[in-house]
Amino acid sequence: MSVALRAAVGDLAPRVLVTLGSGLGGLADEVADATSLDFGDIGLPGPTVPGHAGRLIAGTLAGVPVLVQQGRVHLYEGVPGRDVAACVRAAAEVGVRTFLVTNAAGGLRTEQHPGDLLLIADHLNLTGTNPLVGSATFVDMAAAYDPDLRAHAHAAAGDAGERLTEGVYAGLLGPAYETPAEVRMLRALGADAVGMSTVLEVIAARAAGLRVIGFSLITNVHREGGTPTDHAEVLEAGATAGPRLAAVVRALLPRL
Ligand code: HPA
Repeated sequence: MSVALRAAVGDLAPRVLVTLGSGLGGLADEVADATSLDFGDIGLPGPTVPGHAGRLIAGTLAGVPVLVQQGRVHLYEGVPGRDVAACVRAAAEVGVRTFLVTNAAGGLRTEQHPGDLLLIADHLNLTGTNPLVGSATFVDMAAAYDPDLRAHAHAAAGDAGERLTEGVYAGLLGPAYETPAEVRMLRALGADAVGMSTVLEVIAARAAGLRVIGFSLITNVHREGGTPTDHAEVLEAGATAGPRLAAVVRALLPRL
């Protein structure tokens, strides 16, 4: 247990950990009565990618006591799976009960468009590792993305004037984007979106007994015959569509 995190949380009793993916960073500025902590200050491994902040912000968002995670550690940085999920474990230790996770992802379906919002119904952990390695924790993953919370998310999206499509998120190691053959493989496996985060964090969250709700912001769509994937375009699409997902998150938080 991090003494610094416990002190920063004070009497807040945060209910939800909100992890912000690319494009959603702006939500961190909306946290009221905020105490901002660098990962390093609370004993958590920080991102090694230049320009990626690693911060945990305690405060209230949409009137709900929360911890907001800005910046995350990715497996492709070369860290163990356990480190990728360190923030989730720390949040659980200070009493958080729900994990609201967001990410930027590539779309795998022909009917998708950049800017679509996908509600994660299930995942494929294709990273080749697991945050519970070494612990012999056999966690049930049958309803990892909570069906009741998904119903709340659809209602919140309606209030925010948005529509969510449910789908399966495939989490890969990265950092290379997918080849056309890998895209065909992922479709054949039943994936609707692909990214380089989330799955390990969600496994750790379920192991800690947290309820999980997850969103993918579709920043690019893999088309038949191969589509070049450009990191700058991924970031730009995230920045453009991010405020729409932020509106859904704001509408959803009070329902959690
Ligand atoms: N592949 C993997 N990760 C991603 C993508 C993608 O196409 N888009 C955004 N993150």
